[in-house]
Amino acid sequence: MKNPVLKDAELKGRKVFLRADLNVPLEDGRIADDTRIKAIIPTVEYLIDHGASIIIASHLGRPGGTVHHELSLAPVADRLGELLGKKVFFAPDCIGARVNTLAASLEPGGILLLENLRFHPEEKEDDIDFARKLASNSDIYVNDAFGTIHRSHASLTGVPRVLRGGYIGLLVEKELKVFVEMLSSPARPFSLLIGGAKVSDKISVIENLLPRLDHLMIGGAMAFTFMKEMGLNVGTSLIERDRLGAARKLFIDAEESNVDIHLPVDIVIAPSTGRPDLAETVRADAIPDNMAGLDIGPGTVEKFDKIIRKSCTVVWNGPMGVFEIPPFDSGTRGIATTLAEVTGNGTVTIVGGGDSVRAVVEADLEDKITFISTGGGASLKLLQGVELTALTVLGGGK
Ligand code: 3PG
Repeated sequence: MKNPVLKDAELKGRKVFLRADLNVPLEDGRIADDTRIKAIIPTVEYLIDHGASIIIASHLGRPGGTVHHELSLAPVADRLGELLGKKVFFAPDCIGARVNTLAASLEPGGILLLENLRFHPEEKEDDIDFARKLASNSDIYVNDAFGTIHRSHASLTGVPRVLRGGYIGLLVEKELKVFVEMLSSPARPFSLLIGGAKVSDKISVIENLLPRLDHLMIGGAMAFTFMKEMGLNVGTSLIERDRLGAARKLFIDAEESNVDIHLPVDIVIAPSTGRPDLAETVRADAIPDNMAGLDIGPGTVEKFDKIIRKSCTVVWNGPMGVFEIPPFDSGTRGIATTLAEVTGNGTVTIVGGGDSVRAVVEADLEDKITFISTGGGASLKLLQGVELTALTVLGGGK
């Protein structure tokens, strides 16, 4: 089913409930990265230009259904106002009398940001009464919360039910184009580079993409489960014993689908993340019993680099090592650099997942990647081919 898009919406003089994902990282109460705020600007400007007034709702962090002042969206209202060059009103709650008064006084083009939805337990419970209260000041629902689109919470599924459907915003439209349309028939060779800690998080993504893939490169801690399954000694590296069977099955499925699996050929090891001073690089088949693998080695970066350079489409999700702690960041940074280089030569590069995106942004390479997703878990769900309720409800009663 095609998702209803903004250009089909009657917006003039109407009040829009805009679910955004303004879950930005905060450091000492300040916004550490405003990418997600910038990402909704096109939708907000579109709504303003078409004569709507906007009530924006979002979560921030995981306050667990109670008020945590340090997770207030107030600083986000200020930053959004700066970026738009206009006043953004802020409501001290997301439901209630004060919200109703502020919403009633919104002129066309006016913007009201509601306080953190997750200060109420009913948000995550997809409580329909709570959804009714959230929806009570709005005529139209717009979902531009790509990073949260895999959740079935009141603001994502309940409110569009109450308002009998809704529309996707411009950010969601752009992200879906990449994750659904573009990846359904990618330019080949098509390579997936997957990392991060857990096989369990990513196995269904790999399985779903396998029939379309040419190369699968595996780094990060999840590589150790595959290496263990191959009979290699992985020392004290993180492995998921209950996923060894899944790793075995993947080797078989990949062979049947003619997909080449590439595992690390060398590993940066140390006794633990707390002893970066003792880091050394060893061959992948020579990890000592008392050492943990914490990054891919330079030989692996070179090997992955060659495969990436042969590819026409590359999707990357998940860091190659414990990249927050040098020197275990080299693998992840090396991959980010390669991706930026090949993009300049015409390869389509798509990066999703908080940590891999962060590595690209920290290396100042974000403008050199074809597409950087604002959603980690959400992009994984789409890559798995899962149908998302937050999208299906938009067809609503219309
Ligand atoms: C994210 O940062 O991945 C989204 O904002 C979703 O947040 P959540 O995982 O707490 O639902």
